[in-house]
Amino acid sequence: MNAQELIDTARTLVAGDKGLLAMDESNPTCNKRFARLGIPQTEEARRAYRELIVTTPGLGESISGVILYDETIRQSKKDGTSFIKVITDAGIIPGIKVDAGAKEMAGYPGEKITEGLDGLRGRLAEYSQMGARFAKWRAVITIGDRIPSRGCIEANAQALARYASLCQEVGLVPVVEPEVLMDGEHTLERCCEVTEKVLRTVFDQLYTERVMLEGMILKPNMVLPGLTCPKQEAVDVVADATVKCLLRVVPAAVPGIAFLSGGQSGELASTRLNAMNVRFKSRLPWALAFSFARAIQQPALEIWQGKEFNVLAAQQALYHRAKCNWAARRGEYTAAMEKT
Ligand code: 13P
Repeated sequence: MNAQELIDTARTLVAGDKGLLAMDESNPTCNKRFARLGIPQTEEARRAYRELIVTTPGLGESISGVILYDETIRQSKKDGTSFIKVITDAGIIPGIKVDAGAKEMAGYPGEKITEGLDGLRGRLAEYSQMGARFAKWRAVITIGDRIPSRGCIEANAQALARYASLCQEVGLVPVVEPEVLMDGEHTLERCCEVTEKVLRTVFDQLYTERVMLEGMILKPNMVLPGLTCPKQEAVDVVADATVKCLLRVVPAAVPGIAFLSGGQSGELASTRLNAMNVRFKSRLPWALAFSFARAIQQPALEIWQGKEFNVLAAQQALYHRAKCNWAARRGEYTAAMEKT
């Protein structure tokens, strides 16, 4: 492990008011999103879509790093140029999703444990040789009747910490993603309580596993009421609750926090990130950035529809959403940006 390199990469990922673009949907998830829009669920369609994303002109103005998937990191543009080269030439850092997905957890009905630790050291070494500089592992925590359980939180936190330690060993910056899901009727207060408990457990495990906090990025959920909670809170309430929760549990040594979008609309995700930066940016020890998939990609995917003649318009939509989030990091995002 070269500690300084890890620190430099982690800092670069959140520098310049930029953020991450997650384009690491597994094949089943990508296919599900294609199916909804009538796009063929083939390897070639997935490749063409990812080519659209990585060749978007000016993407590097707002995006510091992209998260790829095992299939995608091995793919190339139609002209044969590898995606890794296209991304790197655009001044963007390539990253890779390395977990094997969240599976039903034995003995814990309704809860999930993320798999993928077996053989991880070898896979990380291969990705690193291919040019990846950071990695991502997502744990999923569900809020419901008497869940999440301590067992589920601890098992997921330990896996995240083992993964993070293995990443740093080969010089990859771990993006540590414990996602408390938005699904459910729970209140914002309940999400806050669960998110705090989960993050406390995660940082406890990161410490136990000797992960260097300066060389990692945290990718948490925002603190939100459940999707079907009757009380949907105002933007400023969400911003205050999220920052208050993070200040309690995220050590100042962590260089950046890059939120997942979790199913929020692109506009809402930008508005909430903007509010946090407007209200707190100058007083926080870490950068508040983004690592969105749906909240950046969704409009572009809907415009593309699998058709070559829609590529330019889709790229413009992608560029726009990325730019809105760059502005949100600066506290300069406004609803008027959506009309331009
Ligand atoms: P969303 O922004 O669509 O939640 O995806 C982020 C991500 O990378 C999930 O692992």
